[in-house]
Amino acid sequence: MNVQQRVFSGVQPTGNLHLGNYLGAIKRFAELQDSFDCIYCVVDMHAITPDMRVWGGPSELSRNIREVTAAYLAAGIDPTRHIVFNQSQVSGHAELAWVFNCVSRLGWLNRMTQFKEKAGKDRENASVGLYAYPNLMAADILLYHATHVPVGEDQKQHIELTRDIAQKFNNDFAESIAANGLGRGEEGGYFPLTEPLIGGPAARVMSLRDGSKKMSKSDPSDLSRINLTDDADAVASKIRKAKTDPEPLPTELDGLKGRPEAENLVGIYAALSGSGKEEVLANYGGGQFSTFKGALVELAVEKLGPIGNEMKRLVADPGHIDAVLRDGAERARAIADVTMRQVKDIVGFVR
Ligand code: AMP
Ligand code: TRP
Repeated sequence: MNVQQRVFSGVQPTGNLHLGNYLGAIKRFAELQDSFDCIYCVVDMHAITPDMRVWGGPSELSRNIREVTAAYLAAGIDPTRHIVFNQSQVSGHAELAWVFNCVSRLGWLNRMTQFKEKAGKDRENASVGLYAYPNLMAADILLYHATHVPVGEDQKQHIELTRDIAQKFNNDFAESIAANGLGRGEEGGYFPLTEPLIGGPAARVMSLRDGSKKMSKSDPSDLSRINLTDDADAVASKIRKAKTDPEPLPTELDGLKGRPEAENLVGIYAALSGSGKEEVLANYGGGQFSTFKGALVELAVEKLGPIGNEMKRLVADPGHIDAVLRDGAERARAIADVTMRQVKDIVGFVR
């Protein structure tokens, strides 16, 4: 294992964990465990950025924090070899986010497409937290000097912003970093320029009802997504009802162009089976959707069934989940505290 290379990622505890969260993020978190030192966070401070009526209130938040933790564990993340914790238990996230609020620029945040989407038309009424959300995300990552961040395609812009913040901090404080002997790496910067790990056939899983919209926790139609806790019957009926077009599946990748629903289902099959879209088309191209959907139902039930069952077993024992989170938070804090002491020295705060 290369200890210089550290993975950090997070999922918001906002309910309705779905196949996009699994294939775009959580499944890949588990796969990185043998090559990196990994920190996986339940980003509960991000979850309260919308209005409370949207995030559901205190008991729902606690339940969702435990559910995301259960999904991590059920997907095979080992909390003894790596770190699993919830953000609000480590105060360094909020502290570093404040420093970054002062490094990051309004002009940068104004470009964030996720804010524009989430704030919608009534921007005046959006919380300051929703606006500053990407600065907190940069703090999550840089508090641990993470070098790699596995996320779905929708988070790419936030990782680019994280790099901009790291770069500006390194430049603004270059002298102080050097004077305190805290330069790391060749450039002598303090924070790394983190790389996103985005890719594979399911970096952007689309809604089962509309191939132009991404699968999302907040889509009012439950038929649009496969939830990780759906039972076999629900998975089967959602896949059978998934929107398609009347043509048979193409035999070549090119044939998926302009057919977003077909491309989505092929991508889901590829990601679940650990292959590529080409291979899926080699097997099912030329055939009817009904045959392909039957195979997809079988595969999805086989892969997701055990995860959903394990999640349900784990959430039934909140004491165990909470102990995992406390232990992870303690180990995360040991790393975060060192960073915060160094950041304070770099910025000039007296401690
Ligand atoms: P969130 O639920 O917004 O906290 O997202 C958690 C993780 O799942 C992030 O890495 C997202 O990029 C990823 N993700 C969310 N929706 C999708 C999707 N439809 N397809 C692929 N990845 C997704
Ligand atoms: N913004 C991410 C999302 O909505 C969640 C997140 C918060 C995150 N902090 C992070 C992801 C740090 C990766 C690294 O999906």
